[in-house]
Amino acid sequence: MIILECKNIYKSYPIKKNFFGKVIRELPVLKGVSLKIEKGKSVGILGDSGSGKTTLAKILLDLEKPDRGDVLYKGVSIYDMKKEKYKVFRLNVQAVFQNPYNSLNPRMKVIDIVAEGLKINFKLDREIIRKRVLESVRRCGLPASVIDLYPHQLSGGQRQRVAIARAIVLKSEVIIADEPTSALDVSVQSQMINLFLELQEIFLISYLFISHNPAVVDALCDSVYEMNEGKLRDVAFSDNKFF
Ligand SMILES: Nc1ncnc2c1ncn2[C@@H]1O[C@H](COP(=O)(O)OP(=O)(O)OP(=O)(O)O)[C@@H](O)[C@H]1O
Ligand SMILES: [Mg+2]
Repeated sequence: MIILECKNIYKSYPIKKNFFGKVIRELPVLKGVSLKIEKGKSVGILGDSGSGKTTLAKILLDLEKPDRGDVLYKGVSIYDMKKEKYKVFRLNVQAVFQNPYNSLNPRMKVIDIVAEGLKINFKLDREIIRKRVLESVRRCGLPASVIDLYPHQLSGGQRQRVAIARAIVLKSEVIIADEPTSALDVSVQSQMINLFLELQEIFLISYLFISHNPAVVDALCDSVYEMNEGKLRDVAFSDNKFF
């Protein structure tokens, strides 16, 4: 079953404006990108810096609109969705970014960071929320005591685990992880890879991993693509270019 899919995505960014503010030059970033993410499977994207990987991730998360092309969640275009269905899409497709320190609010305690999505989307009482946060935190390999700490009181690996717990608590179906391990020590990287795999087994999550590191993608992914100047192409694991 295909959970998330994009079809023939084109995206340019304006790079030059004239005196009147009119765009006179554009930088084409994505040039007809199509991708399918299946239930419980992992897709990896490798590729040079500036090739368009993060732009694609943002479009799949609906943080950025394409110029052309479509994004479908369970077969329905997210641009034509009714409000209720769109909410389901937003809950089920979550992001884990490169540097969790930037994406975690420094003024919020872990419990509130992890609980935020639950509070916004569901009317649950405090005790149930606390229970679900503790459960997710534990699943992500963190001690219960972290819930009363602030992000700056955590290690890099712990912060990354909090970012993952935030997606797990919502029982998300797809996690889009943009360079999820690159800010971490090598030893912590392999712990994170194990955590991603473990959570996939428990919750049947689908992942999109974006990485510069072929070994990370190799360990995690069922299929791998390379982004090259705004175009995606299949990569065989045996491709000598990477090993
Ligand atoms: N908001 C924006 N406005 C203008 N140009 C942008 C914007 N976002 C990205 N770009 C440009 O689009 C291109 C692709 O950027 P993108 O962040 O998708 O690359 P990337 O493959 O994720 O690179 P990296 O591996 O370094 O993270 C770059 O040339 C970048 O400068
Ligand atoms: Mg990027």
